[in-house]
Amino acid sequence: MTDLITLTDAHVVHKARSGGLFGRDRVHALTGASLTVAEGETVGVVGESGCGKSTLAKVLVGVQKPTAGTVALRGADLWSMAGAARRSAVGRGIGMIFQDPSTALNRRLPVRQILRDPLDVHRVGTSAARDARVRELMELVGLPPVLAQALPGQLSGGQRQRVAIARALALDPALVVADEPTSALDVSVRAQILNLLLDLKERLGLALVFVSHDIQTVRRMSDRVVTMYLGRIVEEAPASASGARHPYTRALFSATPGLLDPIDPIPLVGPVPSATRPPSGCPFRTRCWRASAVCAAAMPEFEGADAHRYRCHHPVSADESTVALVAQAKESA
Ligand SMILES: Nc1ncnc2c1ncn2[C@@H]1O[C@H](COP(=O)(O)OP(=O)(O)O)[C@@H](O)[C@H]1O
Ligand code: SF4
Ligand SMILES: [Mg+2]
Repeated sequence: MTDLITLTDAHVVHKARSGGLFGRDRVHALTGASLTVAEGETVGVVGESGCGKSTLAKVLVGVQKPTAGTVALRGADLWSMAGAARRSAVGRGIGMIFQDPSTALNRRLPVRQILRDPLDVHRVGTSAARDARVRELMELVGLPPVLAQALPGQLSGGQRQRVAIARALALDPALVVADEPTSALDVSVRAQILNLLLDLKERLGLALVFVSHDIQTVRRMSDRVVTMYLGRIVEEAPASASGARHPYTRALFSATPGLLDPIDPIPLVGPVPSATRPPSGCPFRTRCWRASAVCAAAMPEFEGADAHRYRCHHPVSADESTVALVAQAKESA
């Protein structure tokens, strides 16, 4: 498989929104993230709210410049390009689908114009060819032609997300990054949108980065699953792998057990620490039942093979049952 996009040791540090006492607080939204997505592959990203999933997505699509580290699209470093070259490379190579289609679409433009816009901006083909492409895109995402003149406000939530998906596909990108594409939608239309994404991925041979806090969906959709905690990638494993090795991944997965084997989730103590002052060493140590002195002293390096890597001083063994881990966690609490 050819590498499509490669993130190397990417950091994103924001000034804190609250400003802090002296306005000097820094939010560590993304810390030392390395990730490669190959052509045609689906990578799922999971983690609690605020752990940096959207930041990672924005860095991958070139709208967020990393404070340090690099993003390379087919080997070309995005942020050493001139602005126009970067926008062209990203615009043609990567499509982005956001969480809420009602804010992501221009409310004053009809569907036809929303879909034509990327073709106009990147000067693709003749005017007639652009019109034909708009019709083709609408058909691709299952929007009836009569909706071409409709404004976003006249559409249902599901139809709006179909427009957003069509727009992301307009320039025939190799990669689509979808950041919680169904969480703003009615439960009844979520499955339709997920199935549409899976279908498009197959038909078009897309690579897909799929961000969600719905772990079951991510595992169903993805080839690989990346777990994030407090700005860091802590595990990367094949979606089919039965045994995650990082305690946090195991805890996260245990909170959504299959219907056939209902189980108590692994209990975690205390809140997620602030991204303004992440703990020393392993960021999960304040809630981890396996933490020891070494966990406070140093962030563990990645261990394991390329296909399944994890950062933990005391990894869970792959065959350790969730029931056993629940007992361990309760005992140490
Ligand atoms: N523009 C910003 N300014 C300050 N802090 C930000 C900004 N964007 C995100 N953050 C903070 O960065 C962290 C990661 O946010 P985000 O990537 O949105 O997480 P997620 O998508 O997993 O919920 C959070 O603590 C969030 O509050
Ligand atoms: S490094 Fe230590 S604190 Fe971090 S997840 Fe592993 S055992 Fe827990
Ligand atoms: Mg988010």
